[in-house]
Amino acid sequence: MSPYAQITGWGMAVPERVLTNVEIAQMVETSDEWIFARTGIHERHIAGEEDTTASLATQAALKALEVAGLKPSAVDLIIVSTSSPEYIFPATACLVQDQLGASKAGAFDLLAACSGFIYALNTATQAIQTGDAQSALVIGSETLSRLGDWKDRNSCILFGDGAGAFVLQASEERSGLLSGVMHSDGSGGDLLILPGGGSAHPTTFETVHQGMHYIQMNGREVFRFATRVMAQATREAVNKAGLGMQEIQLVIPHQANLRIIESAVKSLDIPMERCFINLDRYGNTSTASIPIATCEAIDQGRLKPGDLAVMVGFGAGLTWGAAVIEWSGPVLGIRKVRPYYIRFYARLRSILLRFLRHIDSWVWGRRMR
Ligand code: ACO
Repeated sequence: MSPYAQITGWGMAVPERVLTNVEIAQMVETSDEWIFARTGIHERHIAGEEDTTASLATQAALKALEVAGLKPSAVDLIIVSTSSPEYIFPATACLVQDQLGASKAGAFDLLAACSGFIYALNTATQAIQTGDAQSALVIGSETLSRLGDWKDRNSCILFGDGAGAFVLQASEERSGLLSGVMHSDGSGGDLLILPGGGSAHPTTFETVHQGMHYIQMNGREVFRFATRVMAQATREAVNKAGLGMQEIQLVIPHQANLRIIESAVKSLDIPMERCFINLDRYGNTSTASIPIATCEAIDQGRLKPGDLAVMVGFGAGLTWGAAVIEWSGPVLGIRKVRPYYIRFYARLRSILLRFLRHIDSWVWGRRMR
């Protein structure tokens, strides 16, 4: 029988800087009341100068590794789900691999916008179930505040920055992902798009002048799409796991808009108390929202060992998906892993590798002469 991919570690990281609705109302024509009434958001965390998508991802990953008691050198696979990567290439996952010193891990980025964490969790689980990997780090990390137009009141009120990470490890015990569903509809790609800077519209003075390097969103259409697919995907994943909604203890939805979540909960015919919400303090952190919400649900005792939960998300692409997980809690008797030492050795390793590459290239150059 193929193994389960037990979630043995979890961690989150958000920037220190908090941006309130009141502060946004000083930047664009809006108000705290309007934002809260239409979205449920009070405040969000915004990346400071020193924060990047990779640095937040690394912080979250270190916490997850500490909970799991797993050394980075034992990690086989790193998937970073993000829509705000550090660069188009190299992959942010490779930067995280280096910052962790995860010497044997394969690493790649996954772009499925706010549904990305569900896609990444599903992909990593499959890698473990096939025996291809024994352990994986699944990270959702965003600094979308860097890609938003702070003059566009339609979108700048929504997004926040942050990261969340899970450690998955092969296990015989029934736990982790029990089912996953992933969907897409590219015909709605233009509803939420960052049009400039890719191969369709490489960056020029013109693209910058036209603001094509900013997120562009048709809020109303995204809203309509989201309310349609959230409940649908949740039911599909629950059915696929051979369960009924009454057996699900907690729904952890993508934290985009309270009205979207309320509409999904209504369609699912479950009480609001069975749904975890923290978007009032973080806004929409895109692909990081589900793992951040999961970490807080665990801290607050809302997700306990043995519980069944559904994670459900939607986003640009258009993409949507859901996953049913059985929560197992931390593994007992794990070895101690210290983030400070991991960081220190990873930095040392990276400097050494760069130095050796330099020497190697110098020797190679002399031999070729
Ligand atoms: N403050 C005040 N007024 C505003 C603001 C604002 N920040 N933004 C829009 N308005 C105005 C509009 O101009 C409009 O005025 P009009 O009627 O005179 O034209 C009015 O408010 C209503 O606008 P709507 O767009 O209908 O407002 P709505 O209730 O739909 O709320 C919102 C807008 C919050 C953007 C909502 O549509 C939404 O949340 N959509 C989903 C967006 C989303 O989740 N995106 C992320 C997807 S995940 C990912 O992949 C990143």
